Amino acid sequence: MPDISKVKQRIEELRALINYHNYRYYVLDSPEISDAEYDELMRELRRLEEEHPKFITPDSPTQRVGAAPVEAFGVVEHPQPLLSLANAFSSEELEAWYRRAYNLLGGRNFDFVCELKIDGLAVALTYENGLFTTGATRGDGYHGENVTQNLRTIRSIPLSVPKEAPPRFEVRGEVYLPKAGFKKLNEDRAKEGLPPFANPRNAAAGSVRQLDPRITAKRPLDIYIYALGWAEVKATPNTHWEMMDYLKCLGFKVNPNIALCRTLNEVADYYQTWVGRREELPFDTDGIVIKINPIPFQQELGFVGHEPRWAIAYKFPAIQGTTRLIDIGINVGRTGSLNPFAILEPVKVGGVTIRQAALHNEEDIHRKDIRIGDMVIVQRAGEVIPEIAGAITSLRTGKEKVFKMPSQCPVCGAEVIKPPGEAMHRCPNAACPAQALERIQHFVSRGAMDIEGVGEKLSEALFTAGLLKDAADLYYLTRDQLLSLERMADKSVSNILNSIERSKDRPLPRVIFALGILHIGEETAELLAEHFPSIDALAKTSREELLSIPSIGPKIADSILSFFRQEQNLHIIKKLRQAGIKLSTEVKKPAGLPLTGLEFVITGSLENFTRQEAETKIKALGGKAGSDVTRKINYLVVGADPGSKLARARELGTKTIDEAEFIKLLTEAEAGRRFQ
Ligand code: IVH
Repeated sequence: MPDISKVKQRIEELRALINYHNYRYYVLDSPEISDAEYDELMRELRRLEEEHPKFITPDSPTQRVGAAPVEAFGVVEHPQPLLSLANAFSSEELEAWYRRAYNLLGGRNFDFVCELKIDGLAVALTYENGLFTTGATRGDGYHGENVTQNLRTIRSIPLSVPKEAPPRFEVRGEVYLPKAGFKKLNEDRAKEGLPPFANPRNAAAGSVRQLDPRITAKRPLDIYIYALGWAEVKATPNTHWEMMDYLKCLGFKVNPNIALCRTLNEVADYYQTWVGRREELPFDTDGIVIKINPIPFQQELGFVGHEPRWAIAYKFPAIQGTTRLIDIGINVGRTGSLNPFAILEPVKVGGVTIRQAALHNEEDIHRKDIRIGDMVIVQRAGEVIPEIAGAITSLRTGKEKVFKMPSQCPVCGAEVIKPPGEAMHRCPNAACPAQALERIQHFVSRGAMDIEGVGEKLSEALFTAGLLKDAADLYYLTRDQLLSLERMADKSVSNILNSIERSKDRPLPRVIFALGILHIGEETAELLAEHFPSIDALAKTSREELLSIPSIGPKIADSILSFFRQEQNLHIIKKLRQAGIKLSTEVKKPAGLPLTGLEFVITGSLENFTRQEAETKIKALGGKAGSDVTRKINYLVVGADPGSKLARARELGTKTIDEAEFIKLLTEAEAGRRFQ
């Protein structure tokens, strides 16, 4: 039996190490160890905590993702209101703000801190006795929503702070979704047939206000802290500049692009620099915030209404332009969604020529009252696809036309449907050529079968030439067929054939994802592959079984069932199988050792071995020792005081054995008996 005080000591050591590496990775953006090494530390900590649940503390790095969905957010009263900021849109307005403050302070001089105005969601984080206890949204400024569980999943929010911190205090900051994370999130949503988020701010707000923290945890949210809300007892710095340093020392993430400016001219320089460079930033900003540096001056100046006199937001000019909406086109997506887009008279916006813009769905077009022929305002933000902010109705001539979604698919002519509760219209014809091509393009894409060399263009050329009717045809392409395409040389054909061949080995989750089932993104595909050892098992499943899997709801379940009911999908699967694509989880062929191909998980404590000894024995006999109970696990070894794994094993029907049975199995295996 391991010495209990040693276990506790190791747990504490691991937490300190993990917190340190978290801080290096998420706050400083400067990791010192590889992801694999980090995962190993987490795994060890998780294992020790599972064996000794009494040592679990709320600030342990394992406790970031709450298991249970939040029923509804409670209300948090802000001890000090969270106010908004007055805006300046020109240097004159900025100057006027400065003059007012200068006069109110009786002509005393002061310096400024300039910061970027991060476009996200304001939150207040309360720490009590060293621990993060409450996280709240701004709400109406006086009452916010309690989103503690969701904020705990953001790795750059420390769950605990050093002893030197005040016993009770609150910091404020902006939760945001980096542009790259936003782009990926929308791509994933599109693949699942879900409507995209309009911009990173909406996506961040939607993620923080998710009722299920497990979903929040999957969104790459981040935070910048920009103020101390209040603090009890401890003296805190006297200037905002020093305050930012102080907050950094407590482990908070502060935006590095802040500047101390002595004059209003320096403020104007800071503004000009960032007007020019805002697109380089990995997150969205809509201006800068200027704060009067001495905190006693801030207190003297106080507030007018909901806005402080000591700070102001100086907004960036919107990256907008006006042009004419010539027409509205329709693009038919992989899942049959009819995606309207704006066809514009070309216009330069922020140095980029825009010809097309997103117009999410019919409802959105009508809500914004955009009509064909209108002069419209086009705007772009960072990486986001340009969109139409609205129409200039005063310029209407009366000839503009109200848009109506076609009742027939523009590509195949099938009758369009609009499923109840969905924003998108759909073409229900699975054989629609537009969908077929999009499905092939999805199949070959990076997260799916990743067939290098067969991108969107080549798939389209093959499709148009009639060489591909569906994705499975890829595996039957001949050298001559490829050579018959324009600009195809011997060498590139060999490369393409090789990469098609290599893709036959992709693991099951990729294949499930590649099939392009509506609402099945990469994560759901992984989840399904954990539960079903093969495509056949998935095809035969029932609604009940699907619904028993956490995070699979009726929408996903029905989509899977409907996919496997369609003859042409079964035909594709048949062709994939015949071509030798792996349609099941790899089962290792039994090699020389008796436990080869078998995977064990241990729960609770064993009398005759430490966990490590037991795992070493399993491995020595060719078996694998895992830490999570999934469908792949063959045996759960149950010791004293088993953890939640036992319940999980019962749910999945995993075979459980006690310590005596385990010893018997090892003895027989050592004697050479093979287990299957
Ligand atoms: S200071 C009392 N600093 O802008 C003033 N706000 O329009 C407190 N924001 O609700 C705000 N970046 O959510 C401050 N560097 C920054 C900011 C920032 C973004 C947001 C914040 C606030 C809103 C005001």
